[in-house]
Amino acid sequence: MYIRASNTIYKMEFIDEKIEAYSLAHSQPESEVLKKLNRDTHAHVLMPRMLSGHMQGNLLSMLSKMIQPKQILEIGTYTGYSGICMAQGLQEGGKLHTIDINEELEKMVRSFFSDAGLTDKINYYIGNALEIIPSIKETFDLVFIDADKKNYASYYDLVFEKVRRGGYIIADNVLWSGKVLDAAEKMNADTKAIDDFNKKIHTDIRVEHMLLPVRDGLMLVRKK
Ligand SMILES: C[S@@+](CC[C@H](N)C(=O)[O-])C[C@H]1O[C@@H](n2cnc3c(N)ncnc32)[C@H](O)[C@@H]1O
Repeated sequence: MYIRASNTIYKMEFIDEKIEAYSLAHSQPESEVLKKLNRDTHAHVLMPRMLSGHMQGNLLSMLSKMIQPKQILEIGTYTGYSGICMAQGLQEGGKLHTIDINEELEKMVRSFFSDAGLTDKINYYIGNALEIIPSIKETFDLVFIDADKKNYASYYDLVFEKVRRGGYIIADNVLWSGKVLDAAEKMNADTKAIDDFNKKIHTDIRVEHMLLPVRDGLMLVRKK
């Protein structure tokens, strides 16, 4: 997917298209529920490119199955795609807590959580994540940050003490369509926020981390 901004063309996927198609053709297929969610989001919801999609969804699902979390926090539900993927790895009795400020999507999201058989495993919160996170009294094994970019660093700081030692924080869109390569004086506010966030993680001695250049870039962070 390509996005044109002034004279520069930014792309959201950094993997060669044919390689990506081959990789998807040889990966776990999208479930029927996720296929419908993907289709309905593209047909009826603004900015469908925000949805994680097949490749990133598979990766989140696989990482969650490796981590086997009891408690997951997701910041930025949107239409529920990534949440459904991560919930696949929950331990018996585990919960996904997912927050979104957009109340207009609630009906659609709840219906897809139900179609995925996950109603009992998900606590869905509508509101500003900055206000809701402190009220969730849980220790998290996995946190997925995927909401407004300007608050990434605040979300990281807010959740850090709530993540167990050896737990993981994953942040999406950390390559921001390649705009993180722009000269500092040309960066817009969101790009600067993402670049600052990446530098903050890179200098945080409390964690191990890697920036994975899949789709729009995922920062994988493990709390030591
Ligand atoms: C990129 S989308 C999330 C995509 C979703 N995780 C997925 O992969 O399918 C970002 C979401 O963050 C939500 N959001 C933005 N600011 C927020 C805030 N302050 N608190 C909670 N949610 C917020 C938006 O409403 C939007 O639905």
